Amino acid sequence: AHRITMGPLVAAIDQGTSSTRFLVFNAKTAEVLSQHQVEINQSFPKEGWVEEDPKEILQSVYECMERTCEKMAELNIDISNIKAIGIANQRETTLVWDKDTGEPLYNAIAWLDLRTQSTVESLIKKAPKKDKNHLKPKTGLPISTYFSAVKLRWLMDNVTEVHDAVLSQRAMFGTVDSWLIWCLTGGRSGGVHCTDVSNASRTMLFNIHTLDWDPELCAYFDIPMDILPKVRSSSEIYGLMKSGSLTGVPISGCLGDQSAALFGQMCFQNGQAKNTYGTGCFLLRNTGSKAVMSDHGLITTVAYKMGRDQPACYALEGSVAIAGAVVRWLKDNLGIIQSTSEIEKLAAAAGTSYGCYFVPAFSGLYAPYWEPSARGIICGLTQFTNRNHLAFAALEAVCFQTREILDAMNQDSGIPLTQLQVDGGMTSNALLMQLQADILSIPVVRPTMPETTALGAAMAAGAAEGVSVWNLDPASLPTVSVETFEPQINHRESEMRYARWKKAVQRAMNWET
Ligand code: G3P
Repeated sequence: AHRITMGPLVAAIDQGTSSTRFLVFNAKTAEVLSQHQVEINQSFPKEGWVEEDPKEILQSVYECMERTCEKMAELNIDISNIKAIGIANQRETTLVWDKDTGEPLYNAIAWLDLRTQSTVESLIKKAPKKDKNHLKPKTGLPISTYFSAVKLRWLMDNVTEVHDAVLSQRAMFGTVDSWLIWCLTGGRSGGVHCTDVSNASRTMLFNIHTLDWDPELCAYFDIPMDILPKVRSSSEIYGLMKSGSLTGVPISGCLGDQSAALFGQMCFQNGQAKNTYGTGCFLLRNTGSKAVMSDHGLITTVAYKMGRDQPACYALEGSVAIAGAVVRWLKDNLGIIQSTSEIEKLAAAAGTSYGCYFVPAFSGLYAPYWEPSARGIICGLTQFTNRNHLAFAALEAVCFQTREILDAMNQDSGIPLTQLQVDGGMTSNALLMQLQADILSIPVVRPTMPETTALGAAMAAGAAEGVSVWNLDPASLPTVSVETFEPQINHRESEMRYARWKKAVQRAMNWET
């Protein structure tokens, strides 16, 4: 068959909490040529625990890569046009493996896992003035179950295999990016143990100003520095693929998925922001070369560093643990929908929550509260409430949580956002988008190409020195077409609903005390 020749292509792995994807982009037009997606299982061995299988994560990546290559062959596109691979990954999720055997020493502890709640509470009690922001000047983060250091501490204290491997210097720690890069570049025969600044900034062991692991932070959590990956920029060649159809292709982009989405939404300038609706929901605002500290419950994170000699770019972030996960919960735990896309139909049939408010604080509450002891509640029920209202309330909860973050962001920066750029799986739900515009009272802008996370990782990989097939000069970037949702309800009604939500949140707080 005739092979189609075309310009350089760049691929991206998007390894999220709920699924893995592999996409191939045309580096000139940013068009998606082929892709494949695989769901990821989560296990909940105890209340509040969330784990994933590192091998399943790795297998899903290989499967997505191979299936995508097969689809490209069917389209007669030569896979040798793929010049680089980028990685965007779920952040904070913590893994430890044995460098001699290549085997994981425990399941990956997912970012939204709550098992470290008591450790976190005692760390906060011990901190001067019992201040959860004690480590914030260096890390940008409050002490919370969310970040990797406490999960790693738990693994070292509770899993004999991890404890022993650390003592005998066989242990390697990493977030999902490090695990993947190490395995894909050869694992125990020469795999590269590294991470990028955006992922490192989520561990609580990383100094976001010096851009390196911090000995004092490591001592605080009593974590030996020799198990940590080497910190690199977000755009440089880390190593080459060692097996599969793409053997020899450089891996040259690495970003936490939220950073990748910020980049893929072309938010390169100070003040630009995006909100991504995945398992959780994360609003990031670019603050340029300045690490701005929040007074309103947001965190400060390294957004990206596009090359070894480039400066780091920072962001303020509002993290919400449960967004898409609430829909999955309605499907898996309550069984009121058969597929997640069905929620839109149910919510549309109700058209209102009929006074029902649903605070899905399944993993405590993250920004702006940082309250690990909060738990989910559904309130305002009457005899009239049915599953349609519940579906509506679940979607509304995602919007209210975003509103809380946006308010905090506006207060911190003093310059309110006049519109919100959005992306992620849930944004295909038009009802949610309209609801979001109504609750924020500003327009919500959705790109027609929804895969901005993968796009950001592909751009970083394609622009890396030695690959140089993606030109990041804003003038030569393709324009992104968008759809806009304008607010339709009046501001007073939106404020009234939001005030009720705030009351519901207060009831979800301090559930266990
Ligand atoms: O911080 C967690 C985040 O990176 C997970 O993203 O897309 O799986 O919700 P997502």
